[in-house]
Amino acid sequence: NNMKDTKILASDGIVKSALEKVRAMGCAVEEASYNQEELPEKLREYNGLIIRSATKITRQLLEKMGSGGKLRLIVRAGVGLDNIDLEAAKEMGITVKNTPYSSIESVAELTLAHMLSLSRHLQKSNVTMRRGEWHKKTYKGVELSGSTLGIIGFGRIGRDLAQKAHALGMKVQYNDVMGEAKDLSHFTFVDLDTLLSTSDFITLHVPKIPGEPPVLGKPAFDKIKRGAYVINCARGGLIDENALLEALNNGAISGAGLDVFEKEPPINEALLTHENVSLSPHIGASTIEAQERIGDELVSIFTEFCEGR
Ligand code: MLT
Repeated sequence: NNMKDTKILASDGIVKSALEKVRAMGCAVEEASYNQEELPEKLREYNGLIIRSATKITRQLLEKMGSGGKLRLIVRAGVGLDNIDLEAAKEMGITVKNTPYSSIESVAELTLAHMLSLSRHLQKSNVTMRRGEWHKKTYKGVELSGSTLGIIGFGRIGRDLAQKAHALGMKVQYNDVMGEAKDLSHFTFVDLDTLLSTSDFITLHVPKIPGEPPVLGKPAFDKIKRGAYVINCARGGLIDENALLEALNNGAISGAGLDVFEKEPPINEALLTHENVSLSPHIGASTIEAQERIGDELVSIFTEFCEGR
Protein backbone atom coordinates (compact mmCIF):
# COMPACT_ATOMS: atom_id res chain seq x y z
CA ASN A 1 0.00 0.00 0.00
CA ASN A 2 1.17 3.45 -0.90
CA MET A 3 0.54 6.10 1.78
CA LYS A 4 -1.55 8.28 -0.48
CA ASP A 5 -3.63 5.40 -1.75
CA THR A 6 -4.39 4.46 1.83
CA LYS A 7 -7.91 5.50 2.72
CA ILE A 8 -8.71 5.49 6.38
CA LEU A 9 -12.02 5.98 8.12
CA ALA A 10 -11.83 7.43 11.62
CA SER A 11 -14.93 6.92 13.79
CA ASP A 12 -15.83 7.58 17.41
CA GLY A 13 -14.21 11.03 17.68
CA ILE A 14 -10.49 10.30 17.58
CA VAL A 15 -8.49 13.27 18.86
CA LYS A 16 -7.80 15.68 15.94
CA SER A 17 -4.08 16.06 16.55
CA ALA A 18 -3.67 12.26 16.32
CA LEU A 19 -5.43 12.18 12.94
CA GLU A 20 -3.36 15.14 11.75
CA LYS A 21 -0.23 13.08 12.35
CA VAL A 22 -1.60 10.29 10.16
CA ARG A 23 -2.64 12.79 7.47
CA ALA A 24 0.84 14.31 7.57
CA MET A 25 2.15 10.89 6.48
CA GLY A 26 0.07 11.23 3.31
CA CYS A 27 -2.83 8.93 4.18
CA ALA A 28 -6.35 10.08 3.31
CA VAL A 29 -8.21 10.15 6.61
CA GLU A 30 -11.95 10.76 6.65
CA GLU A 31 -13.85 11.38 9.84
CA ALA A 32 -17.36 10.02 10.01
CA SER A 33 -19.44 7.92 12.35
CA TYR A 34 -21.86 5.51 10.72
CA ASN A 35 -24.36 3.38 12.56
CA GLN A 36 -24.05 -0.41 12.67
CA GLU A 37 -26.45 -0.65 9.70
CA GLU A 38 -24.56 1.67 7.34
CA LEU A 39 -21.05 0.80 8.42
CA PRO A 40 -20.53 -2.58 6.61
CA GLU A 41 -21.31 -1.03 3.21
CA LYS A 42 -19.07 2.02 3.83
CA LEU A 43 -16.18 -0.03 5.16
CA ARG A 44 -15.59 -1.74 1.81
CA GLU A 45 -14.12 1.51 0.44
CA TYR A 46 -11.48 1.93 3.13
CA ASN A 47 -8.13 0.22 3.68
CA GLY A 48 -8.07 1.06 7.35
CA LEU A 49 -10.48 1.88 10.15
CA ILE A 50 -9.71 3.69 13.39
CA ILE A 51 -12.19 3.34 16.24
CA ARG A 52 -12.49 3.83 19.98
CA SER A 53 -15.06 1.89 21.97
CA ALA A 54 -18.37 3.12 20.54
CA THR A 55 -18.15 1.18 17.25
CA LYS A 56 -18.72 -2.54 17.75
CA ILE A 57 -16.95 -4.71 15.20
CA THR A 58 -19.01 -7.87 15.43
CA ARG A 59 -18.81 -11.02 13.33
CA GLN A 60 -22.19 -10.12 11.89
CA LEU A 61 -20.94 -6.69 10.79
CA LEU A 62 -17.81 -8.15 9.16
CA GLU A 63 -19.83 -10.83 7.38
CA LYS A 64 -22.22 -8.19 6.10
CA MET A 65 -19.24 -6.23 4.76
CA GLY A 66 -18.10 -9.38 2.97
CA SER A 67 -14.68 -10.28 1.62
CA GLY A 68 -14.73 -8.15 -1.56
CA GLY A 69 -13.82 -4.88 0.14
CA LYS A 70 -10.48 -3.20 0.79
CA LEU A 71 -10.45 -3.24 4.57
CA ARG A 72 -7.23 -4.83 5.88
CA LEU A 73 -6.55 -3.03 9.17
CA ILE A 74 -8.61 -2.02 12.18
CA VAL A 75 -6.93 0.12 14.80
CA ARG A 76 -8.39 0.52 18.25
CA ALA A 77 -7.21 3.95 19.43
CA GLY A 78 -6.89 2.78 23.01
CA VAL A 79 -6.15 -0.44 24.83
CA GLY A 80 -9.25 -2.61 25.29
CA LEU A 81 -10.14 -4.81 22.31
CA ASP A 82 -13.39 -6.15 23.77
CA ASN A 83 -15.50 -4.31 21.16
CA ILE A 84 -13.88 -6.19 18.27
CA ASP A 85 -14.50 -9.83 17.36
CA LEU A 86 -10.84 -10.74 16.95
CA GLU A 87 -11.51 -14.26 15.70
CA ALA A 88 -13.87 -13.07 12.95
CA ALA A 89 -11.43 -10.33 11.88
CA LYS A 90 -8.60 -12.85 11.66
CA GLU A 91 -10.69 -15.22 9.56
CA MET A 92 -11.30 -12.38 7.11
CA GLY A 93 -7.62 -11.49 6.88
CA ILE A 94 -8.03 -8.20 8.74
CA THR A 95 -5.25 -7.20 11.12
CA VAL A 96 -6.33 -5.67 14.43
CA LYS A 97 -4.04 -3.34 16.37
CA ASN A 98 -4.41 -1.28 19.52
CA THR A 99 -2.30 1.51 21.02
CA PRO A 100 -1.22 -0.22 24.24
CA TYR A 101 1.44 2.30 25.30
CA SER A 102 -0.72 5.40 25.07
CA SER A 103 -2.53 5.40 28.39
CA ILE A 104 -0.28 3.46 30.80
CA GLU A 105 0.61 6.34 33.14
CA SER A 106 -2.80 8.01 32.82
CA VAL A 107 -4.69 4.91 33.96
CA ALA A 108 -2.19 4.21 36.76
CA GLU A 109 -2.57 7.80 37.99
CA LEU A 110 -6.37 7.67 37.91
CA THR A 111 -6.23 4.44 39.93
CA LEU A 112 -4.12 6.23 42.53
CA ALA A 113 -6.54 9.17 42.46
CA HIS A 114 -9.43 6.85 43.38
CA MET A 115 -7.34 5.20 46.10
CA LEU A 116 -6.45 8.58 47.61
CA SER A 117 -10.04 9.81 47.34
CA LEU A 118 -11.36 6.74 49.17
CA SER A 119 -8.65 6.63 51.82
CA ARG A 120 -9.34 10.25 52.79
CA HIS A 121 -13.12 10.43 52.13
CA LEU A 122 -12.72 13.06 49.40
CA GLN A 123 -15.72 11.82 47.43
CA LYS A 124 -17.85 12.38 50.54
CA SER A 125 -16.42 15.71 51.64
CA ASN A 126 -16.81 17.11 48.12
CA VAL A 127 -20.53 16.46 48.46
CA THR A 128 -21.11 17.38 52.10
CA MET A 129 -19.04 20.59 52.16
CA ARG A 130 -21.02 21.87 49.20
CA ARG A 131 -24.07 21.36 51.37
CA GLY A 132 -22.44 23.47 54.09
CA GLU A 133 -21.53 20.55 56.38
CA TRP A 134 -18.26 20.16 58.27
CA HIS A 135 -17.41 16.53 59.16
CA LYS A 136 -13.89 17.00 60.51
CA LYS A 137 -14.29 14.24 63.12
CA THR A 138 -16.02 11.70 60.88
CA TYR A 139 -13.56 11.75 58.01
CA LYS A 140 -10.68 9.98 59.67
CA GLY A 141 -8.70 8.28 56.91
CA VAL A 142 -5.94 5.75 56.41
CA GLU A 143 -2.50 6.22 54.86
CA LEU A 144 -1.59 4.50 51.63
CA SER A 145 1.94 4.35 52.95
CA GLY A 146 2.46 1.03 54.71
CA SER A 147 -0.74 -0.52 53.39
CA THR A 148 -0.85 -3.40 50.93
CA LEU A 149 -1.89 -2.99 47.32
CA GLY A 150 -3.05 -6.08 45.43
CA ILE A 151 -2.85 -5.71 41.66
CA ILE A 152 -4.81 -8.19 39.54
CA GLY A 153 -3.18 -8.15 36.10
CA PHE A 154 0.50 -7.31 35.91
CA GLY A 155 0.79 -5.98 32.38
CA ARG A 156 1.96 -2.54 31.34
CA ILE A 157 -0.53 -0.63 33.49
CA GLY A 158 -0.31 -2.97 36.49
CA ARG A 159 3.47 -2.70 36.53
CA ASP A 160 3.50 1.06 36.18
CA LEU A 161 1.05 1.34 39.05
CA ALA A 162 3.24 -1.01 41.12
CA GLN A 163 6.22 1.35 40.74
CA LYS A 164 4.16 4.41 41.60
CA ALA A 165 2.56 2.73 44.63
CA HIS A 166 5.97 1.51 45.78
CA ALA A 167 7.18 5.11 45.65
CA LEU A 168 4.29 6.05 47.95
CA GLY A 169 5.45 3.46 50.47
CA MET A 170 2.89 0.78 49.71
CA LYS A 171 3.63 -2.92 49.83
CA VAL A 172 2.76 -4.31 46.43
CA GLN A 173 1.60 -7.83 45.60
CA TYR A 174 0.10 -9.02 42.34
CA ASN A 175 -1.53 -11.88 40.52
CA ASP A 176 -1.36 -12.50 36.79
CA VAL A 177 -2.40 -15.43 34.58
CA MET A 178 1.12 -15.33 33.09
CA GLY A 179 2.56 -16.17 36.52
CA GLU A 180 5.44 -14.48 38.26
CA ALA A 181 7.20 -11.55 36.57
CA LYS A 182 10.87 -12.50 36.62
CA ASP A 183 12.13 -8.98 35.95
CA LEU A 184 10.39 -7.20 38.86
CA SER A 185 11.45 -9.20 41.86
CA HIS A 186 10.71 -6.56 44.52
CA PHE A 187 6.95 -7.07 44.03
CA THR A 188 5.41 -10.24 45.43
CA PHE A 189 3.53 -12.71 43.24
CA VAL A 190 0.64 -14.32 45.14
CA ASP A 191 -2.30 -16.53 44.17
CA LEU A 192 -5.63 -14.78 43.69
CA ASP A 193 -7.15 -15.97 46.98
CA THR A 194 -4.14 -14.71 48.94
CA LEU A 195 -4.30 -11.41 47.10
CA LEU A 196 -8.00 -11.02 47.95
CA SER A 197 -7.63 -11.97 51.59
CA THR A 198 -4.50 -9.93 52.41
CA SER A 199 -4.70 -6.69 50.36
CA ASP A 200 -5.98 -3.38 51.74
CA PHE A 201 -6.53 -2.04 48.22
CA ILE A 202 -7.42 -4.31 45.30
CA THR A 203 -7.25 -3.05 41.73
CA LEU A 204 -7.98 -4.68 38.38
CA HIS A 205 -5.77 -4.24 35.32
CA VAL A 206 -6.87 -7.09 33.09
CA PRO A 207 -8.80 -7.12 29.81
CA LYS A 208 -12.45 -8.09 29.70
CA ILE A 209 -12.73 -11.35 27.79
CA PRO A 210 -16.24 -11.48 26.29
CA GLY A 211 -18.22 -14.36 27.76
CA GLU A 212 -16.01 -14.84 30.84
CA PRO A 213 -17.53 -14.38 34.32
CA PRO A 214 -16.55 -11.31 36.38
CA VAL A 215 -13.16 -11.54 38.11
CA LEU A 216 -14.74 -10.07 41.23
CA GLY A 217 -18.09 -11.79 41.71
CA LYS A 218 -19.79 -12.97 44.88
CA PRO A 219 -17.25 -15.79 45.55
CA ALA A 220 -14.38 -13.29 45.36
CA PHE A 221 -16.11 -10.73 47.60
CA ASP A 222 -16.55 -13.50 50.20
CA LYS A 223 -12.76 -13.87 50.30
CA ILE A 224 -11.80 -10.19 50.33
CA LYS A 225 -10.10 -8.84 53.47
CA ARG A 226 -12.70 -7.11 55.60
CA GLY A 227 -12.63 -3.36 55.06
CA ALA A 228 -10.55 -3.42 51.87
CA TYR A 229 -11.05 -0.96 49.01
CA VAL A 230 -11.72 -2.12 45.46
CA ILE A 231 -10.80 -0.11 42.34
CA ASN A 232 -11.77 -0.71 38.71
CA CYS A 233 -10.23 1.50 36.04
CA ALA A 234 -10.05 -1.38 33.55
CA ARG A 235 -13.39 -2.58 32.17
CA GLY A 236 -16.98 -2.74 33.29
CA GLY A 237 -18.11 -6.31 33.78
CA LEU A 238 -14.89 -7.33 35.52
CA ILE A 239 -16.79 -6.64 38.75
CA ASP A 240 -20.29 -7.97 39.39
CA GLU A 241 -22.00 -4.71 40.40
CA ASN A 242 -24.69 -6.42 42.47
CA ALA A 243 -22.09 -8.35 44.45
CA LEU A 244 -20.11 -5.13 44.86
CA LEU A 245 -23.12 -3.26 46.18
CA GLU A 246 -23.86 -6.03 48.64
CA ALA A 247 -20.24 -5.96 49.87
CA LEU A 248 -20.44 -2.16 50.28
CA ASN A 249 -23.73 -2.35 52.15
CA ASN A 250 -22.76 -5.10 54.56
CA GLY A 251 -19.37 -3.52 55.32
CA ALA A 252 -17.36 -6.34 53.75
CA ILE A 253 -15.45 -3.63 51.89
CA SER A 254 -14.89 0.01 52.90
CA GLY A 255 -15.29 1.53 49.49
CA ALA A 256 -14.93 1.28 45.73
CA GLY A 257 -13.37 3.48 43.06
CA LEU A 258 -15.04 3.03 39.69
CA ASP A 259 -14.12 4.49 36.30
CA VAL A 260 -15.88 1.79 34.28
CA PHE A 261 -19.29 0.17 34.51
CA GLU A 262 -21.32 -2.80 33.32
CA LYS A 263 -23.39 -0.35 31.26
CA GLU A 264 -22.03 3.06 30.24
CA PRO A 265 -23.41 5.52 31.15
CA PRO A 266 -24.19 3.52 34.30
CA ILE A 267 -27.72 2.91 35.50
CA ASN A 268 -27.23 1.40 38.94
CA GLU A 269 -28.65 4.23 41.06
CA ALA A 270 -27.74 2.59 44.39
CA LEU A 271 -24.10 2.31 43.34
CA LEU A 272 -23.92 5.81 41.87
CA THR A 273 -25.31 7.43 45.00
CA HIS A 274 -23.35 5.31 47.50
CA GLU A 275 -21.22 7.57 49.69
CA ASN A 276 -18.36 5.08 49.78
CA VAL A 277 -18.01 4.99 46.02
CA SER A 278 -15.62 7.31 44.20
CA LEU A 279 -16.77 7.80 40.61
CA SER A 280 -15.38 8.92 37.26
CA PRO A 281 -16.94 8.59 33.78
CA HIS A 282 -14.51 6.24 31.96
CA ILE A 283 -11.72 8.81 31.75
CA GLY A 284 -8.68 6.61 32.42
CA ALA A 285 -7.17 7.46 29.05
CA SER A 286 -8.53 10.99 28.91
CA THR A 287 -5.45 13.09 29.43
CA ILE A 288 -3.70 15.42 27.02
CA GLU A 289 -0.60 13.23 27.16
CA ALA A 290 -2.36 9.89 26.55
CA GLN A 291 -4.28 11.26 23.58
CA GLU A 292 -1.06 12.70 22.14
CA ARG A 293 0.62 9.31 22.41
CA ILE A 294 -2.25 7.68 20.51
CA GLY A 295 -1.28 9.87 17.53
CA ASP A 296 2.33 8.70 17.71
CA GLU A 297 1.26 5.06 17.95
CA LEU A 298 -1.11 5.48 14.98
CA VAL A 299 1.77 6.82 12.91
CA SER A 300 3.93 3.76 13.64
CA ILE A 301 1.05 1.38 12.95
CA PHE A 302 0.18 2.96 9.59
CA THR A 303 3.85 3.24 8.62
CA GLU A 304 4.23 -0.51 9.15
CA PHE A 305 0.97 -1.14 7.33
CA CYS A 306 1.92 0.92 4.29
CA GLU A 307 5.38 -0.64 4.16
CA GLY A 308 3.62 -4.01 4.08
CA ARG A 309 5.02 -5.27 7.37
C1 MLT B 1 -9.09 1.93 26.44
O1 MLT B 1 -9.37 0.74 26.36
O2 MLT B 1 -8.04 2.38 25.98
C2 MLT B 1 -9.99 2.87 27.13
O3 MLT B 1 -11.20 2.34 27.44
C3 MLT B 1 -9.97 4.19 26.47
C4 MLT B 1 -11.19 4.70 25.81
O4 MLT B 1 -11.42 4.40 24.64
O5 MLT B 1 -11.91 5.47 26.43
